[in-house]
Amino acid sequence: MSDNFDFDIKRKRPEEIYNDVLDYFRGEILEQYATSKSIMKMQIKITIRALELLNLRKKDSLILDAGTGPGFTATYLNKIGYETVAIDLIPEFLNFYDIKESNPIVSDMCFTPFKPQTFDAVISISSLQWIYKDLNSAVMKNQLISLAKAFYTILKSKSKAVIQFYPKNKEFLDSIGKIIIDNTKFSGNFIIDNPKNPKKRKIYLLLNKT
Ligand SMILES: C[S@@+](CC[C@H](N)C(=O)[O-])C[C@H]1O[C@@H](n2cnc3c(N)ncnc32)[C@H](O)[C@@H]1O
Repeated sequence: MSDNFDFDIKRKRPEEIYNDVLDYFRGEILEQYATSKSIMKMQIKITIRALELLNLRKKDSLILDAGTGPGFTATYLNKIGYETVAIDLIPEFLNFYDIKESNPIVSDMCFTPFKPQTFDAVISISSLQWIYKDLNSAVMKNQLISLAKAFYTILKSKSKAVIQFYPKNKEFLDSIGKIIIDNTKFSGNFIIDNPKNPKKRKIYLLLNKT
C-alpha cells in the first residue's frame, strides 16, 4: 500500500515514551497543545488536505472526527458547513473550547458507539500513532484491527476514511496497510506529501468502503 521512500525518525516521540495517551496529554502539555495557534493552523491545513482527498460530493455530509483533541478539525468542518461528531478519549480536551456544535463524545475510536452506516466520511488527524506503536504487540495489532473494523462499520457504503498520522518508519506504514487490508474489506492507499522533506512530510491513509 505504500510508495518507496526513506525515512526513519530517530528521536523518541511522546507516544513511545508514554504508554497511555492520557498520561501525556494532561495539565500543562494539554493546555499548550489546545491553545497553540501554530498547531491549530497546521491541523486545519491537514484537515483541508484530508477533505481534498475525500472529495465529498454532498455539502451536508456527516463526518466523524476521530481523536479530535481540542476539536480543531471538527470546528473547521462545522465552519465550512459540514455536520460533525467529534470523539476523543480525553474529556479535558473536549471541554477546552465550547464545541457543542461538533457533538463531542468521550469515546475510544477503536470501539465507536455508533450505528452501522452512520457517517459519510471519517477523518482522523495526528492520532493513529497512539493506537499502533509496537510492531510486535498483539494487543496493539488488535487495537488497530478494532479501529479499522469500527470505521468500516460506521461508514456508509461508497464512502471513505482518511487517516493522517506520523509513522515511525516504513515498516510501520507497511504493517498498518497490511493489517487493515487483511482484516477488513477496505481498499486503500497511502498518499505522501513532500516525501523527501522530513519536516514537511505528511502521510495520509485513504480507505475506501465499496
Ligand atoms: C496529537 S492529538 C491530535 C488531536 C487532533 N486530531 C488534532 O489534530 O489536533 C492526538 C489525539 O488522539 C487522541 N486519541 C489517542 N488514542 C485515542 C483513542 N483510542 N480513541 C480516541 N482518541 C484517541 C488523544 O486523546 C489526542 O487527543
